[in-house]
Amino acid sequence: MKVQLILMCIFFSFHCVHCDECTKLDISITQKVEHEGFHRNILWLIESTHTPEQKWFQSDCKFSIKQDIPNGMFVNPDEIADLNRTGELISYIDGIVDVEAPAHESQEHIIYVFLNQSDIERASITLPVHMRYQRSQITGGYGKVLLRKPSLLMLCSESSKRACVRGLKVEAPCDETAHKVCIWKNFSYQALFDEVELYVPVGDLDDYPLVSIVTLLLGCTGCIYILSVLSTTPL
Ligand SMILES: *[C@@H]1O[C@H](CO)[C@@H](O)[C@H](O)[C@H]1NC(C)=O
Ligand SMILES: *[C@@H]1O[C@H](CO)[C@@H](O)[C@H](O)[C@H]1NC(C)=O
Ligand SMILES: *[C@@H]1O[C@H](CO)[C@@H](O)[C@H](O)[C@H]1NC(C)=O
Repeated sequence: MKVQLILMCIFFSFHCVHCDECTKLDISITQKVEHEGFHRNILWLIESTHTPEQKWFQSDCKFSIKQDIPNGMFVNPDEIADLNRTGELISYIDGIVDVEAPAHESQEHIIYVFLNQSDIERASITLPVHMRYQRSQITGGYGKVLLRKPSLLMLCSESSKRACVRGLKVEAPCDETAHKVCIWKNFSYQALFDEVELYVPVGDLDDYPLVSIVTLLLGCTGCIYILSVLSTTPL
């Protein structure tokens, strides 16, 4: 009996320490992709479904969005660096970005966008991206690029009151300087959108020689015609 009581006390004290420590957060993300063609904007609206408790804002927890950029598109490092400098998009690009390369010669990269605590109540983020030229095909038409859903990562220091989260651990840069790697938690958010496929026009580059020969021939024919008309017209 005594032992049972002691065990129960231990259990409840642990339990209460635990429930006092973490703040419940429910976060939803809405995603939209703006524009057609080669220059797009990915828009994210991040919202808490209820106002977080006050103690959340006293914590040192922070969030970041990790977006995989598939080889069919890229973020332009110069453009992102400008937004980073002005504070509009605090971010870090992981990977080497060749802005000239076509899709089939390119590698994926990752962009991390860093948020702060107040951002988690409601924030909208705009990420400019660019589609890459696809390998040309005889048929032309459209190429498809799958944009995977972003991951929402959370980082709290050991001592702080953290959000209740059971996500898996993810290694990612601690901040935009990426001097250190931290162990973040993969926060499961409510995605109010589906994974999207973006369509890119595919150039008929293989037809290029044919097109230029035809154009040249048409041009010559035109010239000859005009010359012949001119030379036969009585002056
Ligand atoms: C958090 O970000 C918002 C804009 O995204 C900014 O206005 C605010 O100053 C930031 N707060 C802190 C503490 O950095
Ligand atoms: C953003 O600025 C920090 C320094 O303030 C820099 O270390 C980081 O590389 C920059 N990120 C990008 C994407 O340019
Ligand atoms: C985080 O979890 C989601 C859903 O389980 C998963 O799709 C995503 O790949 C994870 N992200 C990372 C960086 O592990």
